[in-house]
Amino acid sequence: MHTVRFVHTGGAFEAENGRTLLSIADENGKSVQRGCNNGMCDICRLRIVRGVEHLLNAKTQRPFATSRVQSCIAEIHGDVDVER
Ligand code: FES
Repeated sequence: MHTVRFVHTGGAFEAENGRTLLSIADENGKSVQRGCNNGMCDICRLRIVRGVEHLLNAKTQRPFATSRVQSCIAEIHGDVDVER
């Protein structure tokens, strides 16, 4: 289990390894705009304040090159702080 903390709106939530940030936000009542749900439209991007190295792109299984990640395909593999 890992901890995802929403630093601006508040709340820290435990989630299983490999869950996407968007699914964790949905489960815990955090509103995130979305479109394609497949990493294509960029509408769901969230800024990662801490722990971006703990995220993998679900489509490539590689780390993200930026701290603004598409939450629908950002899988957690460690603790993450999200600006939202
Ligand atoms: S909803 Fe389109 S990239 Fe995430």
